[in-house]
This record gives sequence, C-alpha cells and structure tokens, in this order.
Amino acid sequence: MHTRVLTGITTTGTPHLGNFVGAIRPAVLASKDPNVDAFYFMADYHALIKSDDANRVEASRLQIAASFLAAGLDPDVATFYRQSDIPEVPELMWLLTCVTSKGLLNRAHAYKAAVDRNIEQQEDADAGVTAGLYMYPVLMAADILAFNANKVPVGRDQIQHIEMARDIAQRFNHTYGREFFVMPEAHIEEQVATLPGLDGRKMSKSYDNTIPLFEGGTKGMREAIMKIVTDSRAPGEPKDSANSALFTIFKAFATPAETQAFEEALHGGIGWGEAKTVLFERVEADVAPMRARYEDLMARPDDMEDILLAGAAKARAIAGPLVETLREAVGLRNARHRRKVADEPTAAAAPAAAPKAKPPRFASFREDDGSFRFRLFGADGEELLLSRSFADPKAAGTLRQTLATLGGAQAALESQGDRIVLLVDGAVVAEGQSYPDETARAALVLRLRTALDVLAAVTADEAAAKAANKAAG
Ligand code: TRP
Repeated sequence: MHTRVLTGITTTGTPHLGNFVGAIRPAVLASKDPNVDAFYFMADYHALIKSDDANRVEASRLQIAASFLAAGLDPDVATFYRQSDIPEVPELMWLLTCVTSKGLLNRAHAYKAAVDRNIEQQEDADAGVTAGLYMYPVLMAADILAFNANKVPVGRDQIQHIEMARDIAQRFNHTYGREFFVMPEAHIEEQVATLPGLDGRKMSKSYDNTIPLFEGGTKGMREAIMKIVTDSRAPGEPKDSANSALFTIFKAFATPAETQAFEEALHGGIGWGEAKTVLFERVEADVAPMRARYEDLMARPDDMEDILLAGAAKARAIAGPLVETLREAVGLRNARHRRKVADEPTAAAAPAAAPKAKPPRFASFREDDGSFRFRLFGADGEELLLSRSFADPKAAGTLRQTLATLGGAQAALESQGDRIVLLVDGAVVAEGQSYPDETARAALVLRLRTALDVLAAVTADEAAAKAANKAAG
C-alpha cells in the first residue's frame, strides 16, 4: 500500500540548518521509501499572506527548491512543485470555502492571536488582518485535499490546520453525499531534533538566530558557528554538554560514536573556540557536497524552471481529474452532457448528477494466447478501459467486481505516456484510450469517472434489489 505523504514549505525565507535537520533531511529520506508517494511543494501562495516583499518571495522559492534538490530529492521519484503552478488548488479552495463555516476560521490560532494582540493594544479587532490570513486554513486544506494525501508531516503549530482540513473535507463529503476526500493525518516527526540557534533558543528566522544552510558559503557557515553563544567557562574547565547548543547541533549531524567523543571532549575541558571548530568541520563535511550541488542549481535557473514545471504537470495529472469530479458534483457541469440526459426519457426523472440512462458495461474476451481480459464500455458504447490480461479467469472476474463498486472519485488514474491508466493498490490494472492533447485527456478522465460512478450506483441498486427480493421471498 502506498502512503501519500504531502507537505508544503512557505517560501518566505532562506533555508537554515534548523530547516535542514527538521524538515528537508527527513522529507528527502521519507521520499526514498518505496511505500511512500511523496508530494512536496513550495507554498508560495501562502508566502503572499506573510510577505509582500516580491523579491524575497522570488528568491525564497528558488532557494528552497534548490535546497531540496541539493539535499538529494529526486524529482522523478517525488512530485515536487510550486503551489502557484497548480490552478486546481485555488479552484478547490473556492469549492471548500463555500462549505467552510466562518466560525471554524474564527477559531484558527494564527487569526485569533492577531485579534488578541489588537485587542490588547486597544486597536480594532481586525486591524492589519488580511482576508488572506483568515483564509489560510482553507488554502492549506486545498493543498492537502487536492491530492488526497494520507499523511502530512508538519510542526506542532500546524496540527490545528490539519484538523481543520479534516473538518472541511468531512463537510464537503457530507454535503455532496460521497467520499470524495480521504481524511488526512498530521504526522509529527518525534525523533527529529529541533536545533537551537545562535542564542540557544529554537533556531528560527523570527529570532534572527539562524545558521544559513547554503547561502553565504563555507565562510558564512564558519562565521555563524563561531557566533554561537556559550557560557564563560575557560579552556580546561569541564563543559556541560546537556545545555550546550554546540553539542545539540553536533549530535544532529554526527554518528553516535562521534557524538560520544565530542561529549567526552567537552567534559574533559576542550575550549569553546576549539569545540566550535570541531562542530564546523563536522557540519561542513555533510553540507559541502550539497552546497556544491545547490550552487550549481542556482546558477541554472532555466533548468530549475523545467524541473518545477515537470513536477507541476505530474501534480496536475492527479489534481485535475479530482477537481473535475468535484465540479461535476457541485453542479458545475457540462451543458452538452445535460442535454443528452434530458433527451433520454428514462433518465429524465433521475437526478442529473448520475445519468443512469445506459449503464456502462463490461465485455470479456480471450486473447490468442489463452489469457483473459475485458473491456469497459461507456454509456455511448465507446471503449473506456482495456484490462491487463490474466492467466486466471477468476482474477479477471475479481478485478471486474472491484471496478463495479469503485466509484469515480476513488479511482486512481494516472497519465502514462499518452494514455490514462487505472491503478488498484498501486499496480496498473487497465489502460484507457490514448489522447491527443490536454483537453481530450480531461474529457476522457471525466467520462471514465462518470462511468465508474454510474457503475457503482447500478451495482449498489442491484445489490439492494437482491436484498429486497430475498427479504420479500
Ligand atoms: N502552513 C505550513 C507551514 O507554515 C505550510 C503549508 C502550506 C503546508 N500548505 C501546506 C504544510 C500543506 C503541509 C500541507 O508550515
């Protein structure tokens, strides 16, 4: 089973050592797990809520993208993109906004803190609060729900936002009567260290106590490390490792054996200056090769743009069909489709949402080599899917049954080459027609999802009728 792991990084700053240890390194590691389907993105729409400094946002989204790639993220394995390259995200945000109660947003910590501050300072409650800040949780819910992510690694301060995403998803599912969205779970990395900054408080750009990860080069790294605040113990005096920022940072990069040796050196009275040099050398050993890749990437903005646009295309192949299904569900429907339904006398009485005119049907056949396959035809008789071939006819039957109850929103559809393929438990089980362009692809996906919805509805009706017969007879 694949777990879809998704997280966003707000693009308002330059990555520092704390970001690397707390977010970038664990994210890259997780993306290498074959059971993980990683979606990582630059939350640049969120950045606009926090910063109106256009140049800073521009620089930050490049620096963050290059940092992840330099740290070893493989954009072919993970789906790595900029939020603002996915028009489905703001589109979904609006659909979600319309089912989100204002009261829920009133309770968001960040908004409430701003209001409390204003009241304390005897200002108008909403002074300086933008509607962007107010809507922040809905945009974040759209980020997560557009990809039906299972697991969202975040810091503790973001847990409420994930809970809100669940609330909003539930409300949408309930309102429109189907499980369009899976419920995302917040994931807090417990083993990951929170690095102290230069002054011993949590390393954070809001405290201005950071050690830059790549920007500033080797020199910047060394200078920052030399500024870490220590106590006044002289060389020769034993040092307390437990309360030393130097030691905590060292430990985040070193092996247990190296850590033990450093601890012994501190207890043995190594001077702070020398200890800082040891720390610098240890961190630099890890960072230097990544920095070389980072600098190379930053010098090739065209290539970066290509990588990020390719990531966006991959992401949209998932979000696009989902948002199409949602548009259909809320009534933003194709007019042509409706006329057809109205023309059909048997369907006229049925709700337009589920055209039940001619149900899609399966047709099974045998290949020359004796293997078993089937096709799925849509209401108009056009071929929608061709299954893979099975040696065992029972296996083909099982897949037909699965598809008969799957439903459109649940279907895992992907583009492979110029075809849509259907996946079940991560394996391709059927392929669709080839499509010449994006518009044709979108239409195909929509037809496919609609057919699967109708099929699921028919199957459910048949099961209900059977049950009723049984009860009657
Ligand atoms: N709000 C998150 C933060 O500040 C960034 C973010 C935006 C995010 N969209 C997301 C994180 C979706 C996880 C999932 O850290």
